Amino acid sequence: MARTPLIAGNWKMNKGPEESVAFLEALLSQELPEAPDVLVCPPYISLPASAMILTGSSVLLGAQSVHWEESGAFTGEIAASMLTELGVEWAIVGHSERRALFGESDASTSQRAAAAQAAGLVAVYCLGETLEQREQGQTMQVLEQQVSAARDLNPTRLVVAYEPVWAIGTGLNATPDQAQEAHAFLRQRLATLFSDEAAAKIRILYGGSLKPSNAHDLLRLSDVDGGLIGGASLDVQSFSDIIRAAADCAAGA
Ligand code: PGA
Repeated sequence: MARTPLIAGNWKMNKGPEESVAFLEALLSQELPEAPDVLVCPPYISLPASAMILTGSSVLLGAQSVHWEESGAFTGEIAASMLTELGVEWAIVGHSERRALFGESDASTSQRAAAAQAAGLVAVYCLGETLEQREQGQTMQVLEQQVSAARDLNPTRLVVAYEPVWAIGTGLNATPDQAQEAHAFLRQRLATLFSDEAAAKIRILYGGSLKPSNAHDLLRLSDVDGGLIGGASLDVQSFSDIIRAAADCAAGA
């Protein structure tokens, strides 16, 4: 099953409107390969300026989160319809920083993803184990629980991002064996939740210290369909190097 790889940049709380525009202008001036799909997720405040720059380009635009309600008294939150109004078509949900620092859970992650999908967005559904859970041999159990919370979602508007918490922003990436094992397990669980056919089409991204020097080794794995990249997505050169590595892997190089 050929899945088009996806390289997604999660800028987190970096790059205001001006810096976002400068980055995107530089990215668009690069000779980028046709595949993979490329997605950038700037902070909310930078989405309008980013949407303007990206009009007519093939670079996709996403938000870093989205609320599950359409409107109301939810200070600091953004509704899916506000994103679609800007032309945003993707939203990350359940990033481990949202879970660890802002109290988000499997339940709220699936609610956010459902609202995103209902508005026509693709949900990038993040999950992954902590170091403690891995050391205690609980990785698969944790992944099973997290992915099961996605059971009511629409598999055709779903991307899963496996991001071991211990690898995020630490410089320490999962080994290819660890990544392939987790991704294959997730795909098998997705097949149980949805169907074999649906699971074969869902892109499962790897995230956690993905950078140009390890991109090829991780992106060539059979169940790794791209990456969700934090630190290395903030620099045009390293982000485009990862995009090129994904293209080489897709071409079998
Ligand atoms: P990192 O972040 O690439 O800086 O490790 C990945 C992520 O949090 O999505």
